[in-house]
Amino acid sequence: MAKCIRVPKREGESARSRLMADGMLNLRARIGSDGDFLLIPILCDEYDGYEVVDAELREQEQKVTDYRDLVDVPPELKELLPTSFDVVGDVAMMKIPDELKQYRGDIGKALLKVNRTLRIVFEDHGVKGDFRIRDLEHMAGEGPSETTHKEFGVVLTTDPARVYFNPRLSSERFRIASQVQDGDVVIDMFAGVAPFGTVICKLASPEVVYSIDLNPEAEHFARYNAERNHIDRIVAMTGDSSVLIYDLPMADRIVMNLPQIADRFLGFAMDRLKVGGTAYMYKILERADLERFCDDLVWRMAELGFGIVINVSELKTYSPTMSVYSMDVVRTS
Ligand SMILES: C[S@@+](CC[C@H](N)C(=O)[O-])C[C@H]1O[C@@H](n2cnc3c(N)ncnc32)[C@H](O)[C@@H]1O
Repeated sequence: MAKCIRVPKREGESARSRLMADGMLNLRARIGSDGDFLLIPILCDEYDGYEVVDAELREQEQKVTDYRDLVDVPPELKELLPTSFDVVGDVAMMKIPDELKQYRGDIGKALLKVNRTLRIVFEDHGVKGDFRIRDLEHMAGEGPSETTHKEFGVVLTTDPARVYFNPRLSSERFRIASQVQDGDVVIDMFAGVAPFGTVICKLASPEVVYSIDLNPEAEHFARYNAERNHIDRIVAMTGDSSVLIYDLPMADRIVMNLPQIADRFLGFAMDRLKVGGTAYMYKILERADLERFCDDLVWRMAELGFGIVINVSELKTYSPTMSVYSMDVVRTS
């Protein structure tokens, strides 16, 4: 029940604006009506001689856009509330500092309330192991961690708890797809659920994309995503790409998204890349080490008998001193 003044409709707007100016308008409830009268919710006991009544009024929708304005944690901990989190489809994943662990449920609920497109929130304990899978713990919301992400008219089903997927690389997928020529043979050495392969096949016309991953779950999702997007040119396989790549034809393009250690696989990639072809390698590096790393890579490939040219772009900051780089490695001989 909300305390209201009963105001003739013709006086409604003037009474409302005066209440507002006086700081006496109750913004949590909506204005109601009763025949020729408006029921305006108030924060005081009486106002301007109008009749005061108690009425059942609908709650005013709060247009809060930041979950931090909604969550109920002690004021001294407010500044520890995370400002960013990852989203894949309708799943959010958030790192929670130790001091806020006991408020995880409330934090998750606040996030869901503010972001209507989210269905479920997990605490993110980090990416682990060779498969780069996330260690997730439920915070709020319902259903499985499996979800569907959309980009460039492609739908990609994934499960962050079972296979790695990075939604933030969509512009890289677009960039590479725009370079693919009709009839190219493409190999993705660390393919996950086949986001690169699927976008490439949707936006370009390669002959085939071989999609390799160590994680058997990745092959399952890659096949599913190819089928769902009506693509029949993705060949998904499970195993170590440094071995499986030797069963495949020479490639025009090779995608290498394993940013911690992709360079260790560059020799294998060059061995199966046509002269003139490009390997799209991602690498996390200390910014100060970039030049030395590239020189060293050219030298290491020369020792294996491959001439290369590297075109580098900084993709994003990884830590105060490190960045993620995209390196287009062209095989010249
Ligand atoms: C950073 S994820 C990239 C996944 C996908 N390309 C994407 O962008 O979402 C790296 C993937 O490489 C796989 N992987 C790690 N070592 C591998 C290897 N030797 N051969 C094939 N796949 C490997 C992991 O299982 C993981 O799915």
